[in-house]
Amino acid sequence: MRKIKDIKPIELKDHKLYVINQLKLPKELEWVELSSYKDVAKAIKDMIVRGAPLIGIVGAYGFAIGIKEIIDKGLPLEKSKDVLETLKNTRPTAVNLFWALDRMWKKYQKWVSEKDKDELIKLLFKEAKKIDLEDYHANKSIGGYGQILIPKKANILTHCNTGALATSGWGTALGVIRSAYEEGKDITVYVDETRPYLQGARLTAWELQEEGIPHYLITDNSAGFLMKKGLIDVVIVGADRITKNGDVANKIGTYSLSVLAREHNIPFYVAAPTSTFDLETEKGDDIPIEIRSEDEVKKCGGCDIAPEKTKALNYSFDVTPAENITAIITEKGIISEINTENIVKFLKNRGG
Ligand code: MRU
Repeated sequence: MRKIKDIKPIELKDHKLYVINQLKLPKELEWVELSSYKDVAKAIKDMIVRGAPLIGIVGAYGFAIGIKEIIDKGLPLEKSKDVLETLKNTRPTAVNLFWALDRMWKKYQKWVSEKDKDELIKLLFKEAKKIDLEDYHANKSIGGYGQILIPKKANILTHCNTGALATSGWGTALGVIRSAYEEGKDITVYVDETRPYLQGARLTAWELQEEGIPHYLITDNSAGFLMKKGLIDVVIVGADRITKNGDVANKIGTYSLSVLAREHNIPFYVAAPTSTFDLETEKGDDIPIEIRSEDEVKKCGGCDIAPEKTKALNYSFDVTPAENITAIITEKGIISEINTENIVKFLKNRGG
């Protein structure tokens, strides 16, 4: 077995959250202190932290920080609803944020009537830590199941960043790649640069380089050509939300990859923890898709790349229909025939 380095993108110290500033990578490894819930909300909104599982975890810590602020400042406890809403009102697509905040809110409502204020704060930070640790174990498990699907020698195409930087560590889709590499498999990763935020170029390539996993950075529009040339054996991506029927919202560009993979008969895997499933949303069309600023498209590395008056349209996510997905890899096992019945049965039987 190879030894793989892991990265922890956040750290809690003295009730303050320290996070790697993902806007600065790969040039600089800067840690940012988040000491109020408003700092946390801004860090999520501005994508200092990003990635579906990580924004859930950071949101959970943010909620604990917010309740502590209310108590420390002697504010009325009704303000807790503002904390919840401010954190929820940051990014709309990844369901993990809402999942984690709803879990924190339920615990808060239970404990606020039963416990004294010091105990309440302690328990909320403990719950956030639990969400954090559970995610790490889920990722290791996703890696374990997922690596079995990777051939001994494989060229793998991935999109966006689904690694340690997007989670509590190890990663989901990139975690599968890590686990396969750790197993000794002969792997080359083709990393989509992932315009416009460049999660692939800036973050995934950085993680792979830190670990010495062989990789090529490619432009987003190369995938079809590489597949046609027989250079890609497997596509693996993460997810921001998986609806009841198995449709998957993920970084913009994922849908096109799934169509290309289908056309070229290449397996297309989605790796995600069960916290990414949203059984209350029936199908992909019902997922709120974030639209980000025009500037993210019209500028690159701080430079203008388009005429000033040109309008840009910046959907941050798209939806891949269930029928384009070969299998969904979770911490509880693999769902290989993706439809409503199988998803509901799988989550029920495995306690998701
Ligand atoms: O806009 P981002 O960077 O938060 O989007 C991230 C993605 O789309 C990831 O693929 C997804 O969150 C899965 S991360 C394990």
